[in-house]
Amino acid sequence: MKKMITLMTEEISKAFEKAGYDPSYGRVTLSNRPDLCEYQCNGAMAGAKAYHKAPMVIAEEVAALLADSPVFKKAEAVRPGFLNLTVREDFLSGIMRQMEEEKCLGVEKAEKPKTIIIDYGGPNVAKPLHVGHLRSAIIGESLKRMGRYLGHQVIGDVHLGDWGLQMGLIITELRHRKGDLPYFDEAFTGEYPKEPPFTIADLEEIYPSASARSKEDEDYKNEALEATAQLQHGRRGYMALWHHIIDVSVSDLKKNYANLDVSFDLWKGESDAQPYIPDMVQRLKDEGFAYEDQGALVVDVAEENDTKEIPPCMILKSDGASLYTTTDLATIVERMKLYHPDEILYVVDKRQELHFIQVFRCARKTGLVPDGTALNFLGFGTMNGKDGKPFKTREGGVMRLENLIAEINEEMFKKIVENRSVRDTDAQDTAKVVGLSAIKYGDLSNQATKDYIFDIDRFTSFEGNTGPYILYTIVRIKSILSRYTEEGGHIGEGAILPPESESEKALMLALQAFAQNMEAAFEEKAPHRLCAYIYEVSNAFNSFYHETKILSQDEPSRRQSLIRLLVLTERVLTEAISVLGFSAPDHM
Ligand code: ARG
Repeated sequence: MKKMITLMTEEISKAFEKAGYDPSYGRVTLSNRPDLCEYQCNGAMAGAKAYHKAPMVIAEEVAALLADSPVFKKAEAVRPGFLNLTVREDFLSGIMRQMEEEKCLGVEKAEKPKTIIIDYGGPNVAKPLHVGHLRSAIIGESLKRMGRYLGHQVIGDVHLGDWGLQMGLIITELRHRKGDLPYFDEAFTGEYPKEPPFTIADLEEIYPSASARSKEDEDYKNEALEATAQLQHGRRGYMALWHHIIDVSVSDLKKNYANLDVSFDLWKGESDAQPYIPDMVQRLKDEGFAYEDQGALVVDVAEENDTKEIPPCMILKSDGASLYTTTDLATIVERMKLYHPDEILYVVDKRQELHFIQVFRCARKTGLVPDGTALNFLGFGTMNGKDGKPFKTREGGVMRLENLIAEINEEMFKKIVENRSVRDTDAQDTAKVVGLSAIKYGDLSNQATKDYIFDIDRFTSFEGNTGPYILYTIVRIKSILSRYTEEGGHIGEGAILPPESESEKALMLALQAFAQNMEAAFEEKAPHRLCAYIYEVSNAFNSFYHETKILSQDEPSRRQSLIRLLVLTERVLTEAISVLGFSAPDHM
């Protein structure tokens, strides 16, 4: 279906044309004086120059032609030449009826669907997930869902950090503790045990202690470096241990992500890119892009207009080892080969921006990506505590994701119990569902690139711009609808009629903008736009609800119309939160 804003623009464009002006002046925008009108068109101001006429003259001509418009109740020329527009009630209810028919509520599927890889999550194997990884997971998941909603083929890749020094550290620590395991015996040729020699709890203790020791003990650190190198050269026993580490860690990660309602199509990691490195390096050398600089292999990526210095992209260290950049470049090669994406989008901490500038420029310059493939970086800000510093536990340590979720759920549980009339048996489950909305909405409602303050009190509040407030609105609608059916009403009867009050009209005007906001949010990679939109819809609904008799409405066709409007509102909110990555309970 055509968007209302498009229909309005078409209507005004026709009038411009009829009056002898270029139809392109008919563009309609949201009013920036909502006290005066709903929409506006500034075309007469722009046309004035081209046609050497007073803008007011043009505006008046156009307004006169809109006098009997089926779209506008009022099209008024006002000084110095604006067109102030008010929509007809029956036109608006017509739009609502069309929206009801649409599975995606008026969102058009992309004409040319793109294949988009989103690289998000980015956890490091064997290191516990902490809040730093939370933002990537939440933002990436919502962009993935948005892209799909708009008809694109979106592939989510977790891109595990599974090939670095942390592997060598764990292997070294295990060797110190359990040196007689067959993995360390180079003469061993038999089959290694199927069962891993550690649990996730062990791993979570092993890594930090190995990491701490390596910072104090030089020999130990060298041992870990050596173990990493041997692993990377494919030492059999270490590869077997590495597989165990991945298995144990990945199943734990999957559990954690499932709790966040985050999922990935690909569980690839840095290690998967390694086979692509030798050929890639060779090619960069052969084609003259890579050169040696103090023993290291580098590609220049500085550009003339750079305002700050962009150092060369390092491909190999002087000892021949590959780096984070090498892996990311090789991952691009792999992704091009396997998926031919039109776009690769990285959702990563903005402090890694320079790394991605180097990688993107190098990939572009050397032709690892064709011109038709976009490489984009969505760098997000830091999640801070109330003190404005990166979020920590009360004791000052790094907050683990699981604990953070538990803390939110507990707080949510308290609030729900305080607030409710419902049986307590499911309060715990409800707290989980609402808690997730608090975390995700709290994050997504901020512009991704900005730092934000993680404030449990505010995020879990039922009032204000919060996830629980949005859910509360949905639950309110659900409960009215179930009361309606309990009292013998049938949902789906009648039809949406023209609005009879300002607040009802405002709700409809908010609802019709769903498609526009969904598209803009994806286009701008800005989930916060979708949050702002559903906040607006929720506010519009709650004002309407407070001044409208719904179930006690006597006139049956009017009651049916209001019920249908409620259903539509619930659908808009429910689709939007599902795209954002959370859901609503049946009651709260
Ligand atoms: N594992 C990395 C980290 O924790 C994030 C990976 C981001 N993705 C990428 N392709 N580099 O910092």
